[in-house]
Amino acid sequence: MSAFLIEGGKKLSGSIAVQGAKNSVLPILAATILTGGISVIHNCPQLTDVDASIAILRHLGCEVCRDGEDITVDSAPMNRYDVPDRLMREMRSSVVFLGAVLGRMGCAELSMPGGCELGPRPIDLHLAALKSMGADVDGQGGSLNCCCQALQGQEIVLSIASVGATENIMLAACCAEGTTVISNAAREPEIVDLQRFLRAAGADIAGAGSSTVVIRGRRPLHEVEHTIIADRIVAATYLSAAAAAGGEVELTGVDRCCMLPVLEVYRMAGCEIHTWPDRIEMCCPHQLKGVRPIRTAPYPGFPTDAQPPVLAALAMADGTSVFVETIFENRFRHAGELLRMGADIRVEGRVAVVCGVEQLLGAAVHSPDLRGGAALVVAALGAEGSSKVTGLSHIDRGYSRLEQDFTRLGAKIRRVNEKQS
Ligand code: EPZ
Repeated sequence: MSAFLIEGGKKLSGSIAVQGAKNSVLPILAATILTGGISVIHNCPQLTDVDASIAILRHLGCEVCRDGEDITVDSAPMNRYDVPDRLMREMRSSVVFLGAVLGRMGCAELSMPGGCELGPRPIDLHLAALKSMGADVDGQGGSLNCCCQALQGQEIVLSIASVGATENIMLAACCAEGTTVISNAAREPEIVDLQRFLRAAGADIAGAGSSTVVIRGRRPLHEVEHTIIADRIVAATYLSAAAAAGGEVELTGVDRCCMLPVLEVYRMAGCEIHTWPDRIEMCCPHQLKGVRPIRTAPYPGFPTDAQPPVLAALAMADGTSVFVETIFENRFRHAGELLRMGADIRVEGRVAVVCGVEQLLGAAVHSPDLRGGAALVVAALGAEGSSKVTGLSHIDRGYSRLEQDFTRLGAKIRRVNEKQS
């Protein structure tokens, strides 16, 4: 087990190219099942969640090879439709394979993904949609068996703009007879990236990025080459690190249009921000100001995944900030660890009141989950003194070169064995 040793208080400066988006590459790897041929995907970050997806594809019979950030999948030899429990447990978002496997094979057997650190992660919307398309769904004793000889296009209205449900329906609908219309679809940029991949493979799909996505199924799909978009949550994390530690950073490769709610918060907090279509520069004051209440929301609202790192940066602001977490019920677990660093945060259910303090102090803290771990790194970079951040297995799911990138920006951070101090 490893840990980060961080010496805080070093201003950050320099330029970083932002890694490819984890939440784009995962559904696109599932989508490679549909082409029945070769898919070449560029800008895939080195993440344990990506490794888990590759393991699932190989288990299903696909041939997968990785060369740096390029992944080539040949799904022609696919000959299975079951995802074993050990692989499902490695990554709960493996449920995104459900629609593609069912669409390609007519059957899909997964174990129920269950909850995670953020709370129960139901998939009722996924299953209701697939049932409406004609699938028989049997979810007994923790396993999920779906089958359907011929999926039918359907008008589907999502009661929640679920990212995963939107993705599963898009993938299943590509194999369905007729047209599927998804209303109240999730609008995240990663959904648009999935549509780009599917259209490049020959699918007839339109509307991603809006609340209505239309898929005309059973188009012949073919080989495809695709480059993954930059990860807007990693970008938000890096901006938060600069905001916490002070300094001036440039992020390249990231679409500023995907970052607007986070940029607005940091402008209100006193940062000077300049943007270009795929570049962001942020100059941070010695101390941030507290900001108006921040409510997380589906895109294009403030992203729930950016809440932990932004909260960590504002824990050192001059003033109070309030966060309302509307997406997940247990997404303030990093607050308890930040208290160990001297933060003044009160959590009541889905509301966190963050009373900024002049200075956080380094401490030994443990990552509660992926973005909560990133929040602790942000806080440690801005804190006075040394911190030790453990639980890196969470962080490594979503950040491919955190310590390398922060070192390049002037931070003192290194990965050591957990026992080392
Ligand atoms: C995706 O998760 C992301 N993961 C999450 O990122 C992100 O936080 C989330 O979308 C919201 O933006 C990936 O893309 C791999 P949802 P997902 O379905 O699809 C409820 C990270 O840190 N819901 O949009 O699982 C659900 O409980 C991760 O990178 C149902 O009730 O999220 C939640 O309250 C964390 N029934 C809300 O909808 C369902 O059938 C939004 O969930 C599905 C969802």
